[in-house]
Amino acid sequence: MSDQPRESQLATDGSSSHPGAVTSGVWTRSGWRDLPVVQQPDWPDDGAFERVLKQISSSPPLVFAGECRDLTAELALVAKGEAFLLQAGDCAESFETFNAESVRERLRVILQMAVVLTYSSGLPTVKIGRIAGQFAKPRSAPTELVDGIELASFRGHMVNDVGTSLAARAPDPHRLLRAYHQSSATLNLLRSFTKGGFADLNRVHSWTQEFVSQSAEGARYERIADEIDRALRFMKACGVDPRSQPSLHEADFYTSHEALILGYEEALTREDALTGDWYDSSAHMVWIGERTRQLDGAHVAFFAGISNPVGVKVGPSATIDEVLGLCEALNPGRIPGRLTLITRLGSKAVVSALPPLLRAVRDAGHPVVWACDPMHGNTFSAANGRKTRRFDDILAEIAGFFAAHRSEGTVPGGVHVELTSDDVTECLGGSRAVLESGLGDRYETICDPRLNGRQSLDLAFRVAELLRHEG
Ligand code: TRP
Ligand code: MN
Repeated sequence: MSDQPRESQLATDGSSSHPGAVTSGVWTRSGWRDLPVVQQPDWPDDGAFERVLKQISSSPPLVFAGECRDLTAELALVAKGEAFLLQAGDCAESFETFNAESVRERLRVILQMAVVLTYSSGLPTVKIGRIAGQFAKPRSAPTELVDGIELASFRGHMVNDVGTSLAARAPDPHRLLRAYHQSSATLNLLRSFTKGGFADLNRVHSWTQEFVSQSAEGARYERIADEIDRALRFMKACGVDPRSQPSLHEADFYTSHEALILGYEEALTREDALTGDWYDSSAHMVWIGERTRQLDGAHVAFFAGISNPVGVKVGPSATIDEVLGLCEALNPGRIPGRLTLITRLGSKAVVSALPPLLRAVRDAGHPVVWACDPMHGNTFSAANGRKTRRFDDILAEIAGFFAAHRSEGTVPGGVHVELTSDDVTECLGGSRAVLESGLGDRYETICDPRLNGRQSLDLAFRVAELLRHEG
């Protein structure tokens, strides 16, 4: 994008309230381009990438600054233990399976989980989807060998296609535009579903799908739904007019994704007229992945200057100095709710690796939200070559996360999970166990293995139990 630097519109004397700044001088949304950047595709070199970015930068924002500030305020409650964070959705969204029903179904399972968590813990659940923008994936290797042919790795539908031909894997910048428009249409649906009746607490029963209702988790959910119905009738009988309470009829739901392709994020970053601060309008919350969190790298520098609530994934190799460096770089003003650290340590390592991080961040006075990603540290290849995760390992990492917080006196803020409402067979175990021999039955993910609808609901009940023990 031909970036006319807009420094002149930014306060340079520290009067801007944006949470961080690149050390040398003024932050600009294109400043990351001068820094080392990893995990960016090799776009065909014909200027098409910059032309597409120019088009996106003149397109409307997807989310608004005020919404991002609302989310920061809700996450500040999470940091204090007065709310719980549920961040969930696909590993990677797909261009192929996009329709109204798939958006509704993904929302439905998250609402069900939120109802279970809220009802059981008595705490508000902050609901953030990995949705409406989760289209880019970092990869461990730039290429892979398929049937003897070296192909570019699949980097998400925003970049290329999963197919195993040279043409399918060629990065195509026009996919960025398609990702923008699909995100916009998804957000439009999410706004209607959450504000237009679908998320009404009077409809808790209608969120159970057929295949879930037959199961033990489904029956357990029905009992909570009955009790909510009763509570609503009770309030009505007491003279509270439920129609006058919009919070019963509408759910607050936010969007998030890994902000990997920095050109795309830059193109959607806009100055808020009200505050003069910069917001990445591609999603309410964006996070930095484990592979792109280098302290001197482009991703951290870009994130330092946007005012959205932001997250960073923290894997087992992260040192205390790195984590403190990230806190300092991304939230020097120690604004509660601004920074979420999403740990993905694995069910074994969490026990020893998490407590020292919790102590160091607490002692440095950083008011972070701690969230547990129990998925990415527990992935392995089954005998048939399918990438999978065990439900029991996922539960064990969450239990270890809660135990570490209990021992350090810090707040276990939430969970970050990859799931779908569909009846897929991608993760092993659960109450009606998916077996290794059955992984091939409905293995539909285009990236990492996700919990199915039943496993997701089961997980919500287990997390609710852990939360009750906290309270
Ligand atoms: N408005 C509240 C919230 O978003 C309560 C609520 C309404 C709710 N519909 C919901 C909570 C669906 C969970 C799921 O939290
Ligand atoms: Mn993933």
